[in-house]
Amino acid sequence: MSDRKNTKQYIRSLIIIYNNMTLSSNNFKALVQQTAGFDTNYHWPMSIEKGIQAMMQQLKLSDPQTLYQKLVQSPDLLYDFIQQFTINETYFNREPMLLETVASNLVPELLIESQHEKHINVLSAGCSTGEEPYSIAIAMIERYGDGCWKMFDFYAIDIDIEAIMTATQGIYNSRSVHMLDQRILQTHFYPINNSHYQLKKDIRNQVNFYRMPLQKVKHFFTVPQMDIIFYRNVSIYFDPQTRQSIFNHLSDILRPGGYLIMSPTETFAHDFKRLALIEKQGFFVFQNKKQPTESLFAHQPIVNESQKKSLLQCKSLNHVVELASRKRYEFALNQLDEYMNDNDDLQAHVLKACILINQYQLSQVRAICQEIHQKDRLNEAAFLLLGQVDRLENQLKKAQFNFSQVLNINPQNWLAHYFLAKIYEDFSDRHHAIDAYKAVIKLINIGKFTAHGLLFFPLSFTMSDIMFLCQKRLEMLE
Ligand SMILES: C[S@@+](CC[C@H](N)C(=O)[O-])C[C@H]1O[C@@H](n2cnc3c(N)ncnc32)[C@H](O)[C@@H]1O
Repeated sequence: MSDRKNTKQYIRSLIIIYNNMTLSSNNFKALVQQTAGFDTNYHWPMSIEKGIQAMMQQLKLSDPQTLYQKLVQSPDLLYDFIQQFTINETYFNREPMLLETVASNLVPELLIESQHEKHINVLSAGCSTGEEPYSIAIAMIERYGDGCWKMFDFYAIDIDIEAIMTATQGIYNSRSVHMLDQRILQTHFYPINNSHYQLKKDIRNQVNFYRMPLQKVKHFFTVPQMDIIFYRNVSIYFDPQTRQSIFNHLSDILRPGGYLIMSPTETFAHDFKRLALIEKQGFFVFQNKKQPTESLFAHQPIVNESQKKSLLQCKSLNHVVELASRKRYEFALNQLDEYMNDNDDLQAHVLKACILINQYQLSQVRAICQEIHQKDRLNEAAFLLLGQVDRLENQLKKAQFNFSQVLNINPQNWLAHYFLAKIYEDFSDRHHAIDAYKAVIKLINIGKFTAHGLLFFPLSFTMSDIMFLCQKRLEMLE
């Protein structure tokens, strides 16, 4: 009898749950759709009822109403609920040619175009288990070498916390890595067993993962700070309204000149005229076009082609100078080599020697200066650098000769006077040392501090330091 009673009670409770479920499953669905923006045609990878059941079990809840209330009250719980229905399909190197275009075309362009030295900030929006942001990071290290991390910051966001956790562990099965070639696999991954690989820590450490719905992205990155946004294979699941609003949010956090990259099937549906749709090496991408006033040529009246070229040359060399002043020597030299492949420009050779002398690559500096002198016998900067190399190698007579050559070409080069003064002191030639220090003070007083003939010459002292130094030396010598 009691067994029958129990069974009846059990069936009754099942009916109540069933009724509640059928009553509320549409509400749950609407809640997910509203929050995640899934389209009505969305292909749910799991039924909403199954998702409700799983969540109720996990939270040890006996009725869906309580679950619904909890979901409405706690965004984190709601994201946990939603992530049961997300589609995480992804793998490494999904579009190799696109990555190549980003690394070889977009990144250099962004660096050259930037008004000031900066990091390139890259965001993977809807990063799933991390294959996309890591593929971008691998493409950068392959293109720019070990030192490139200083140049990039990688961010990756997804609503799915489990996907994010997988991403931070960086362990992938062979399907995930099937598009990577063996060399990349061997260089950047450790094999864990026959079918699993772990991405090496140095690359894992580069990507900052965040759990967040894309609807909130603008609150997190409050200013336009992204240079490249990958937003691929995510919007296909959204309703038209959500598509437009997320696209707007992402556009808002894009720096002027920055790129937003979607998959080919998504791109044309997002041409809301908010960003310019342009073609790069066969790929259609969105770009946040700069205001015309910020353009390089905006303030030029009419610029002919050769003037344009020299302006661009000047701008990219300035960029290298900026990188070098931040002690990013390796990157500066890479950029410079690329520039020199396309331009036969003596200033670029001088700049290279200036950077190399800071790295104490004296024989290379000497070789470059000799090359410069073959093309331009009276190149002031090359004599100055040669004098420096001689001095560093303690060949003072040769150094004296080279600094004197500088002054034959440009008597106003205070740096040459200064180095000569030091050499005269070493030679105990008091009179010449005094004359040379006086020349330095005079030249700086008449505003020649920057007239030392070098594009890049990091001085560890200021103009007033050098004046003070010279005056002190004069007091000692006179
Ligand atoms: C198919 S994967 C795409 C992964 C990667 N972008 C790629 O192309 O390989 C879609 C990802 O978007 C995430 N997603 C869906 N809706 C989201 C939302 N509203 N906010 C953040 N991420 C979302 C899903 O969790 C899923 O991991």
